[in-house]
Formats: sequence, structure tokens, C-alpha cells
Amino acid sequence: LPTYRFVIVDRRARVGLITLNRPQQLNALCDELVSEIGAALDAFEADDSIGAIVITGSAKAFAAGADIAAMQALSYIDAYRGDFITRNWERVKTCRKPVIAAVAGYALGGGCELAMMCDFILAADTAQFGQPEIKLGTLPGAGGTQRLPRAIGKAKAMEMCLTGRLMGAEEAERAGLVARVVPADGLVEEAIAVATKIAANSLPVAMMIKEAVNRAFESGLQDGLLFERRTFHASFGLEDQKEGMSAFLEKRPPVFRHR
Ligand code: CAA
Repeated sequence: LPTYRFVIVDRRARVGLITLNRPQQLNALCDELVSEIGAALDAFEADDSIGAIVITGSAKAFAAGADIAAMQALSYIDAYRGDFITRNWERVKTCRKPVIAAVAGYALGGGCELAMMCDFILAADTAQFGQPEIKLGTLPGAGGTQRLPRAIGKAKAMEMCLTGRLMGAEEAERAGLVARVVPADGLVEEAIAVATKIAANSLPVAMMIKEAVNRAFESGLQDGLLFERRTFHASFGLEDQKEGMSAFLEKRPPVFRHR
């Protein structure tokens, strides 16, 4: 596995693990760090033996946001021409394999946005989410004003973005921002266990499910239902569908070929 400056890449059987590692800055998401996440995702995406990916940070911070030191003097023309900040962030969203964010500690600003770009968030009981950009004289720039309301509704999203207050793990679970809350010391192992379960299934089916669920946020209901129906029909062209249903009828565990 390659080595990077700001991320640590590891694997556990069929699960790829990306650990943000810029501890002195609480994993502030400088350009190089985000590019390295992209490179690590490229490698896992290209590796047929990887079926799901976990992105995590440290016990104190998943990520405390975009790098304020790098942004402070940025001009409008630099920001605009460089397509700051999503230029290299969208790679997380375009990853076709399932990606879980395992969040402990601070997930603020771009850190919260990065977590929301993943397919779902598993939170430690220590997790704190927030979009505090307003306190810096700017606004969320990597999806916070769009993904947060879709996740938790307008009232809470508007309140969080307008006040910059933090939301703890329990509230985040109640609000629908995170799939589940687990004790902090077991977070990464639990995320790997969930990813391992996902990666035991048919990968093309997991990819189809991911595309279909994402459609729910990108289209109207009729278009989304049509996309689901056609993708469901397409699944009948997969050997893994024959295997999955045969295994059920024969009362044995399935052995998926296209993992
Ligand atoms: N960018 C750059 N450096 C950061 C940083 C960030 N987002 N967050 C923390 N750091 C640095 C601090 O400057 C500090 O560095 P020094 O030791 O050199 O002083 C170090 O990390 C440790 O941070 P603190 O001393 O502040 O730690 P703390 O425990 O007292 O506080 C915190 C933790 C509440 C998370 C606090 O660090 C904080 O408020 N960070 C900024 C959070 C924020 O505003 N994020 C939004 C950024 S804007 C954005 O993300 C735009 C977007 O939508 C893409």
C-alpha cells in the first residue's frame, strides 16, 4: 500500500481503511490531504479485492474543517478559478464502492461536509457535528447548506448553519444525520465490521443500491422510482442474483462471485 503525508491507508481483508492523519491541525482539510483521500479512493476503487471503504479520523477530530490558515488570504479570483473548495472533494461523492464515515470528536465545517459525502455516518458517542463557517465570516462550501437540510430537515439545518452551534452524537442520531452511535473506543472496529458485512455481498448490487438511494436526493419521485425499477430489472442479469436466490431456496449461504 502506498504511503501518504496526511492519510494512513490500511486494509482489513476486503475493507479499505483511510485514516486522516494531520493531528496537529485536528485533521484540517488542506488541499494535499483531500487530494490524498482521492488518491487512496482511486486505489481502493481500482482494487477488485476491496468491497467497501471506511474513512475515519482521530479520537479528538474526524476533521475540524477546511484549513483556515490556507483560506484566510484567498482572493475571490483564486477561489473562483481554482473551483475552491470542491475541486478535489467530489471524489468522495463519485466513489462507486460503499464508503462509511466513522466519526469521533469534531466533524466541523468541511469535516461535517466530508462525512456527509460518504454513504452513511457511524458516530462515536463523542462525535460533534457543526457548520461553524458563519463565525468565520463565510458559509459552508462543500455541501453543508444542501446535504445537511436533506439529512436533518430545514429547521435544524438552518439553525445549525446560522448559529454555528455544535450537535452531539445523540442528537445527530435522533435527527437522522448518523446511522448509529457506538462507544468511542469501538468505533473503528465497528465500522470495519459493518463494511465487512457490506463487502461480503455482490459488489455490483451494492453499487446499484448506492446509485438508487442517491437518486432519491437527485430526482423527483417518479424518476427515482423508474430508475429503481430499471436497475432492479438489471439485477436479474447478474449471476449473483441467481446465486443469492438459489442459495436461499437451497437453505445454504450464498457464494457471490462478483465481490
Ligand atoms: N484549520 C486550520 N487549523 C485548524 C483548524 C482548521 N479548520 N481547526 C483547528 N486547527 C488548528 C488550530 O489552529 C490549532 O493550531 P495551533 O496548535 O497551531 O494553534 C490546532 O489545530 C488545535 O486546535 P485548537 O487549539 O483550537 O483546539 P481546541 O481543542 O481548543 O478547539 C475546535 C477545537 C473547537 C475544533 C477548534 O479548533 C475550532 O473551532 N476549529 C475551527 C473549526 C471551524 O471553524 N471549521 C470550519 C472551517 S471553514 C470550512 O470548513 C469551509 C467549508 O465549508 C469547506
